[in-house]
Amino acid sequence: MAQILDGKSLKEKILKELKQKVDCFEVKPTLVVILVGDNPASKIYVNNKKKTAEQLGINSQVINYPSEITEAELLTKINELNNDPSVTAILVQLPLPEHISKENVMNAIAPQKDVDGFTPYNFGKLFSGEEPTVYPCTPKGILLLLDEYNIELKGKHVVIVGRSNIVGRPLSQMMLNKNATVTVCHSYTENLEQITKTADILVSAVGKNIIEGKMLKTGCVVVDVGIFKDENGKTRGDVDFESAFQIASYISPVPGGVGPMTITSLMLNTVELFEHQV
Ligand code: GUN
Repeated sequence: MAQILDGKSLKEKILKELKQKVDCFEVKPTLVVILVGDNPASKIYVNNKKKTAEQLGINSQVINYPSEITEAELLTKINELNNDPSVTAILVQLPLPEHISKENVMNAIAPQKDVDGFTPYNFGKLFSGEEPTVYPCTPKGILLLLDEYNIELKGKHVVIVGRSNIVGRPLSQMMLNKNATVTVCHSYTENLEQITKTADILVSAVGKNIIEGKMLKTGCVVVDVGIFKDENGKTRGDVDFESAFQIASYISPVPGGVGPMTITSLMLNTVELFEHQV
């Protein structure tokens, strides 16, 4: 039976320390979150970000644009925020409506205010094995969680299912930098089960229920990044928790595993950017 990777407790521990740090700042960091449209999941994420920032004494502002906003208008706003010295961190919530180029938007954010680590500059740094201004939040949260439980990455076979720019791709590089052997699987991967069976650490970030206990190696570590509502309205992850729990040595629950760590990393990144700037 597995031990739980408790992201909720670790979040509380890290944010308590972070609040003490922020309390000592005379001027506080300011995080601006841009939300385009009314995607219900994005709205919940953005509200959580704002609420957590406020609890820490970090200034936060949410700018909510209708989905009809043009790319040019959005880029003008980002430019304004880049040039406003009182704004220390900028986040554009993804996904964006189809008529807006995500690449152009990410490219417009000043790298020193890029709290997600998603700009081409910071991604380029990460992919060339250099230190970006900050690391992307979900991968960073996963590494913090594994580290808390003293789970070693060096020499381990890490299998990541999902190759998104938010999780799979940056996580693969961060794991490589920690000397893991990394395999990235995706929708075209053949014989997924044969590969997942060889994972010492399995990370699934797909957003649908695809991993069952029988696909895992006994004693492996399971990190479940997926979160969605099933047909009965129950919050679920990518991994069938009951069967995986019997096989794994550690498993992150949904909710309460990776989700709280993403928001923790966002707060850490907000403070790191602020410290770089002052
Ligand atoms: N949408 C889902 N996850 C994220 C994230 O980590 N950052 C941003 N900007 N958008 C997201």
